[in-house]
Amino acid sequence: MHSPFKTIIEPFRIKSVEPIRFTTREQRVAALEQAGYNLFLLHAEDVLIDLLTDSGTGAMSKYQWAGMMRGDESYAGADSFYRFEAAVRDITGLKHILPTHQGRAAERVLFTTVLAAGDIVPSNTHFDTTRANIEARGATALDLPVPEGRQPQLRAPFKGNLDLAALERCLTENQGRVPLAMITITNNSGGGQPVSLANIRGARAICQKHGVPLFLDSCRFAENAWFIKQREPGMAEKTPLEIARAMFACADGATMSAKKDGMANIGGFLAVNDDAWAERARNNLILTEGFPTYGGLAGYDLEAIAVGFYEALDEDYLRYRIRSIEYLGDVLTAAGVPIVQPTGGHAVYIDAKAMLPHIPPHEFPAWALSCALYLEGGVRGVEIGSVMFGRQPDGSEKPAAMELVRLAFPRRVYTQSHVDYLGEVIRHVHARKEKIRGLKLVSAPKVLRHFTARFAPAQGALIAP
Ligand code: F0G
Repeated sequence: MHSPFKTIIEPFRIKSVEPIRFTTREQRVAALEQAGYNLFLLHAEDVLIDLLTDSGTGAMSKYQWAGMMRGDESYAGADSFYRFEAAVRDITGLKHILPTHQGRAAERVLFTTVLAAGDIVPSNTHFDTTRANIEARGATALDLPVPEGRQPQLRAPFKGNLDLAALERCLTENQGRVPLAMITITNNSGGGQPVSLANIRGARAICQKHGVPLFLDSCRFAENAWFIKQREPGMAEKTPLEIARAMFACADGATMSAKKDGMANIGGFLAVNDDAWAERARNNLILTEGFPTYGGLAGYDLEAIAVGFYEALDEDYLRYRIRSIEYLGDVLTAAGVPIVQPTGGHAVYIDAKAMLPHIPPHEFPAWALSCALYLEGGVRGVEIGSVMFGRQPDGSEKPAAMELVRLAFPRRVYTQSHVDYLGEVIRHVHARKEKIRGLKLVSAPKVLRHFTARFAPAQGALIAP
């Protein structure tokens, strides 16, 4: 790009708008109480800027909508499946491609196919649904991030990397108990931080030596490719597509939520090279997802995803996307708000442990901060901390490694002035941080409790007067 101008603009114009609704602080106080201080339980119309997730919340392009019109809804062998399969194979080079209705369905099919009780699955960091699907098999989900990945304030280019020495140890000490290893790109639970190509290649070499297949949890493969292009020596001249192919060339399989870098509102896939695993996974898929050429999706979904994968790899799009998130990070850093540095691919993560040291982990500082952001500005983020990860499989509690509030950006949805508003809201809350109080659990299910748990202020009010 040789332009004399430095403003990075949204590389699209808006054809269809969706009004958002303003609420008063009093209305939000009532809504929050009604929702048991759980932002997942709010009505979305009570939210002004919704950064709960970047998953399935993006805006589709006119090319995707046009693709949907030619969706072939044949039960078996639909054209749409072959277009989807061709796109996935072009980008990943993987052999067997099974569509699923979303990422966790791919995880469930994979793990019920290949895991037995007592097995171990190492990863840089498992996402919560991945962990839950592994644990549901009686297996252990083992997080092996590089140490710098757990130091929010530290700036390093590839904080999403897998600790290769720890992987080597894990595979040596647990021979026969590790059916596969995984790498999540980008590392969502660890701040949306990227994984370098060198690290993926290193993991590949170790796995090959031990005869263990390597899978990518590839939800945000395009964003990861962009960071590699920007930050890894020798990669600047490569296209994101070339880099994506190089990453997948190291993998024996992949799980994917197309709700992220598939730029679609629903969908995913499981891809595997091994013929025997593919055969068993297909039979498993039919049980709950559907016939292998639609896998829980409509033909039109397959079309939207096939187009979306390439749009996610577009350089103008990636430059704008990563920069708009970094811009919010810059605003917050300048204001002294502690965030995970550097900003990640799909989200800004506020470090609630650093911001609210007066709230102990058992009163869930990041959860309290996410509620405070809603209360003050109608902004919905998500806690990635001790509510999400604190409960152990044996029922005991252990504080999470980090207490973060993730503000995840839907793709192509919000504009620069929305981002400026966010900066203002967060600075406003930061200026009142001493007044924010913790929360106590009122009720919670045993698994994936963050979705439905209910809370109450631990000391009278969430924000002291
Ligand atoms: N893996 C990663 C890294 C994810 O971030 C997600 C979803 C999944 C797997 C599961 O995919 O939702 O399609 O079933 N992450 C969303 C989020 C929910 O908000 O980060 P899914």
